[in-house]
Amino acid sequence: MLKRIAVKDIKLGMFICEFCGSWMEHPFWKTRFLLEDEKDLRAILASGIKELWIDASQGLDVSTDITGKTEAEVEHETDALLLEAEQPGNSERVALDDEIKSAARLCNRAKETVIEMFSDVRMGKAIEVAKARELVDEISSSVLRQPHALISLARLKSVDEYTFLHSVAVCALMIALARQLNLDEDAVRDAGMAGLLHDIGKVGIPLKVLNKPGKLTDEEFAIVKSHPELGAKILIENYQVPPMVLDVCLHHHEKVDGTGYPFGLKGDTISLFAKMGAVCDVYDAITSNRPYKKGWSPADSIRKMAEWSKGHFDEAVFQAFVKTVGIYPTGSLVRLESGRLAVVIEQNDASLLLPKVKIFFSAKTKMPIIQEVLDLAKLQGKDKIIGRESPDDWGFKNLDLLWSGMA
Ligand code: C2E
Ligand code: SIN
Ligand code: FE
Repeated sequence: MLKRIAVKDIKLGMFICEFCGSWMEHPFWKTRFLLEDEKDLRAILASGIKELWIDASQGLDVSTDITGKTEAEVEHETDALLLEAEQPGNSERVALDDEIKSAARLCNRAKETVIEMFSDVRMGKAIEVAKARELVDEISSSVLRQPHALISLARLKSVDEYTFLHSVAVCALMIALARQLNLDEDAVRDAGMAGLLHDIGKVGIPLKVLNKPGKLTDEEFAIVKSHPELGAKILIENYQVPPMVLDVCLHHHEKVDGTGYPFGLKGDTISLFAKMGAVCDVYDAITSNRPYKKGWSPADSIRKMAEWSKGHFDEAVFQAFVKTVGIYPTGSLVRLESGRLAVVIEQNDASLLLPKVKIFFSAKTKMPIIQEVLDLAKLQGKDKIIGRESPDDWGFKNLDLLWSGMA
């Protein structure tokens, strides 16, 4: 049985499954192992990790006077946190189907523009700010028509195009989040620009480090950690860049509990825009395949972020983000009460729990079924989502075809 316990309660003989919170701080590459070595125990205690998961069926349990949290309890707490975002909205958008083709074209063009921008900067040229603005405006219009088309497409990226499409994705997410927070259109545009440029400092990090297939050494991570300041330096030299864009570039790795970098800023000493940047950055990073780690499904990612949200993110900003992408974001694999598996194809403004889904598989017979779109909001409870599922567990490889119509 899995239990989440405080780090002070660990003992030799426990089986460790996962470290909670900032995974960069943990000194181990593999996170599932039987804790037998006194040295490992000391390293964990010294690491700054606050909580971890143990599996009491594979190792020692906590003693009975200590209350670990069971998986069900943590699920329950996370549910409660996510459900606070559940609230009707009222925007008018076009269907995902109607936006997907033009969003795909825009995504390709945006990628090319970002590649050029990064290579200009690498060669010491100025950023073409007007061109970047034009791109941000186009992304902004697509997101206004239908936020989930571009956001979901930009999530699907190969390892080589990660840095460029990550900039596009964070741009689109920042725009959608800024609108969710009711910021004015000028601020929305600046937020998009900030998303596009937040990682520009990565041009100064050796590709050998960025594309390393495994975990970084402390020295390598120290190099990576210089990218916010490198980026800020580049943007200061391009003085048509709005101050807020600079702010996000410099502070998108700060965390509200003060454990982030470069300055270890705490709480409200971090600006709203930098807090937005932190959430959008992490969501797109963990949902993407990177050289060092396979992406998590969007619904799993939202839940992971909810679990970590207390120390890392601003609560109000995270809530708004959940409203923006959904509790079951587009592309999530879900199981319905009827036993059918479905992919979420479109969000419903009236309820985050009742999206439009496409059924395609029976979990009972383990066979494909005739595909059909169900609008859960219109079924009046006749069928509903009972949980998320892992595509890997089912061996589904082309799930994204089901919502995007393209591979
Ligand atoms: P961060 O932890 O500050 O990492 C910043 C960047 O360092 C990453 O950007 C990536 O380019 C590089 N990096 C970090 N760890 C490794 C590694 O083990 N190997 C290699 N080759 N590169 C590494 P990226 O990927 O865009 O991630 C952005 C942020 O998303 C991270 O900032 C972190 O806050 C969050 N994040 C990403 N993956 C995870 C994860 O698995 N768990 C948690 N808790 N957070 C994650
Ligand atoms: C399907 O059965 O239509 C999709 C399966 C897959 O994603 O591989
Ligand atoms: Fe970054």
